[in-house]
Amino acid sequence: MTEINDALKIKEGSEYKYYINGEWKKSSSGNVIEIKNPYNNEVVGSVQACTIQEVDQMIHVANDNYECWEQISIKERANVLRKTANIMLEWADTLGYLLMREIGKPLNSAISEIKRTAEIFNATADSASQMIGETMRGDILDESARDKISMTYRVPLGVVLCIGPFNYPFNLTGSKIAPALLAGNSVVMKPSTQGSITALHFGVILEKAGVPNGVFNAITGYGSEIGDHLSSHPLIDMISFTGSSETGKHIAKSAGMKPLLLELGGKDAAIVLDDASLELTVNAIVKGAFSYSGQRCTAVKRVLPMPQIANHLIERVTEQVLQLSVGDPAKNKSIGPLISSKQCDYVQELIDDALEKGAKIICGNKRKGNLMWPTILDNVSLEMRVAWEEPFGPVLPFIRVKSVQEAIDISNKSEYGLQGMIFTENIDLAFNIAQELQVGTVQINGQSSRGPDHFPFLGTKSSGLGTQGVKYAIEAMSRPKVVVMNLSEKGKLVRECEVR
Ligand code: G3P
Repeated sequence: MTEINDALKIKEGSEYKYYINGEWKKSSSGNVIEIKNPYNNEVVGSVQACTIQEVDQMIHVANDNYECWEQISIKERANVLRKTANIMLEWADTLGYLLMREIGKPLNSAISEIKRTAEIFNATADSASQMIGETMRGDILDESARDKISMTYRVPLGVVLCIGPFNYPFNLTGSKIAPALLAGNSVVMKPSTQGSITALHFGVILEKAGVPNGVFNAITGYGSEIGDHLSSHPLIDMISFTGSSETGKHIAKSAGMKPLLLELGGKDAAIVLDDASLELTVNAIVKGAFSYSGQRCTAVKRVLPMPQIANHLIERVTEQVLQLSVGDPAKNKSIGPLISSKQCDYVQELIDDALEKGAKIICGNKRKGNLMWPTILDNVSLEMRVAWEEPFGPVLPFIRVKSVQEAIDISNKSEYGLQGMIFTENIDLAFNIAQELQVGTVQINGQSSRGPDHFPFLGTKSSGLGTQGVKYAIEAMSRPKVVVMNLSEKGKLVRECEVR
């Protein structure tokens, strides 16, 4: 893959720098964090282990520069986002190859992630009209307030901290950066360490697209060392985070009064009724459960089949799963490595716990390095950890149910509430079940997923706070500014008339 010419200043050898006020710098800590390909352990590069002082400096730079960015017209800010999208598309293959090496995502999916981010930047630019307000008169509510007229328009919040996850290190960081910039905020980006090399390229791309120095800044480092300082800093005005529920809750505690957008974990359940279309359901479940080896918050994470369809469903799902290739993401194998050996250990723990408690292995339960073969567990009971915990790996438990109500109860008992699915030909019944599910989104006859990216995307309970999706994110990263005109008596035209 060709180097991105403009990106050469981003690194020395394989050591990538952090980006502040338009400059690429090495950390004064003198420490770097090595990033290795989870498939073959080759060193992809290293990023700076930045210090708290460098965090402070960056946040002050971002705070000093958002007003100048806000002075630029919304139309011009939108055009910068469109230029950004064009550059991403030019560099999609190179960035996708880098992303694949960093996080073990199959190459085609990695390249699609870059292209999907370009789509988000264009869609955000096209949604510039979200930055509008409304005008109203006081006597709608108070007859004595006829001379009060309120006018609102939307203004930025200030400095937005964008924290992305390892599984979509470019797309889910970009889906925060785009609305933040469109709304007129400045940005401090803190990518997940695994995936941060690809995310650092936002610095090169946004500068090339015309974002002024200091408006976009990118810091890298151990979350345990700089995370709290970032989220609790008084000059951070809003935090948009995607990652684990545990970390999200920790950020919420340290953030104080800051507005938050949190996209956290999930345990999305697929309720499959006896009349479901088998082929459609099988395809949705296999794709939904095993894309990117199940490392998606919206993966299908448990299946609740009714009695008559259960055996057939498990049989057909297994048939398809056994056809999934396992191996090198560079060769686009369907199932690539998990992000770390530690994650593999955790997934194996859940499988072993289920087996000890009586679950039946249908396929999988095999590991080689960070590769875990797709595993299907039948007869999973509510006493097993895999019925409730989020594996973030290629394991799919089938929890057989005897009634719709039982399926609803098990779905709602989860601490998570991201998405749910109902597979049935009875659409009226599907709608009725959807009303009962305590989740952000219910998919009827489809797999759980975040996209299309203009759709509202939210989680309830431990799955998140606030709503993403292009226009919703713009709204979350801006606020109304209210100006009330108090008209004087002078020059008032008085006409005597009264309601009969
Ligand atoms: O896990 C991240 C979540 O956003 C999944 O996105 O598009 O794969 O449903 P998607």
